[in-house]
Amino acid sequence: MKRFAFSFILSLFALMTMAQSLTDDTRRIREEFQDRKFGIFLHWGIYSMLADGEWVMHNRHLDRDEYAKLAGGFYPSRFDAREWTKLFKEAGAQYVTFTSRHHDGFSMWATKASPYNIVDATPFKRDIIGELSQACREQGLKLHFYYSHMDWQRTDYPTGACQNCPHDPSTTNWDTYYAFMNRQLTELLMNYGPIGAIWFDGMWDHKEKEFDWRLEEQYALIKRLQPTCLIGNNHHGSPIGAEDFQLFEQDLPGQNTAGFSGEQKVSQLPLETCMTMNNTWGYSITDKNYKDGDELIRRLVTAAGLNANFLLNIGPRPDGTLPDQAVKILKHIGSFMKVNGSSIYGTRGGCVPPQSWGVTTQKENTLYIHILNKVEDRQIFLPLTGQKLAKVETFAGGTKLTFKREKEGYRIFLPAEPCIVDYILRATLRTP
Ligand code: GLC
Repeated sequence: MKRFAFSFILSLFALMTMAQSLTDDTRRIREEFQDRKFGIFLHWGIYSMLADGEWVMHNRHLDRDEYAKLAGGFYPSRFDAREWTKLFKEAGAQYVTFTSRHHDGFSMWATKASPYNIVDATPFKRDIIGELSQACREQGLKLHFYYSHMDWQRTDYPTGACQNCPHDPSTTNWDTYYAFMNRQLTELLMNYGPIGAIWFDGMWDHKEKEFDWRLEEQYALIKRLQPTCLIGNNHHGSPIGAEDFQLFEQDLPGQNTAGFSGEQKVSQLPLETCMTMNNTWGYSITDKNYKDGDELIRRLVTAAGLNANFLLNIGPRPDGTLPDQAVKILKHIGSFMKVNGSSIYGTRGGCVPPQSWGVTTQKENTLYIHILNKVEDRQIFLPLTGQKLAKVETFAGGTKLTFKREKEGYRIFLPAEPCIVDYILRATLRTP
């Protein structure tokens, strides 16, 4: 009896340590994800051939069989995963999120779960995800997979709110569709090395309460296959279940200018804002409405100040090259990150919330003050009461600045009118 009790206590202890190390692991990978701060989102698939964004099949009411024929002509002759990842690295990105299968249902890897994929259905026959995963590894970039829950091609997918999608109850079969998704996720997690995250999208096709996406089981499968793979879901709501990070589409956390974030509150989980450089995710030949490079730097920095990662999108062309403007922007961001990256990577949103002049990021007792906007009279006010300011200097050059204690914080005097995209100060805090 005694022996039994002893081994029972032992196994209980082992179980407790296991649970403990699991949470420690989760905490660690979430932290590492937050440290990376800047990622590149890639929307690429056979839709790029029609050069009108990734929703073209839906928006132009294209017949699914006719659309599928595009695959027979998809030959991205200039695709070079190494060239892409080299550029992303130069831009200062630390991870890449790639559309493994978008709403159109076409898979960009050698999946055995459906012949509608890059290897079996195109003359290109190369496993794009295989090449990309290899190239990311070489550059030390983490690879994340976007994966669509919704599918416009498969007849077993139970179409929901989608207006222009075929609704055929006679072929709908949730069980086969669910099994198909899990088989694909298993391949993605078993065949391409360590994966940083699965990024789900499209769940909003079914908002009815009674529709059960069976996320719990799917998330458990992901964690079983790769315990260090994070889960995020662009369902436009607050995070649920085992989700590790919260997504914001086209908006910084707390904003809702694009109308996708109305239903969510900013959570304590790691945050990620995804954004297009122009107005479209997939390649568009007409969309030249690119944001200015400096403006994108400001958004990246503001995201960091709001404790969020910034995932910046590119829609590669059908030949496998990246749009010229996107390349130019990446290089521009890269030259900024090279010099100023240490005030962003590995930081968290600073203890001083966003101000009219900009934002703060923080690493231990170092507060980085990012002046992004115009200031009055060459000075800024830093609201800070719980802690003391021990020292303030310019990030570039380390010139010591004078500051004055006021009731609600500190007034910092700048040596010149800030006239660069992000005028950074490095402050040392001291707890009184
Ligand atoms: C939306 C769009 C989808 C895009 C995604 C990226 O959900 O439907 O096409 O991939 O946003 O955030």
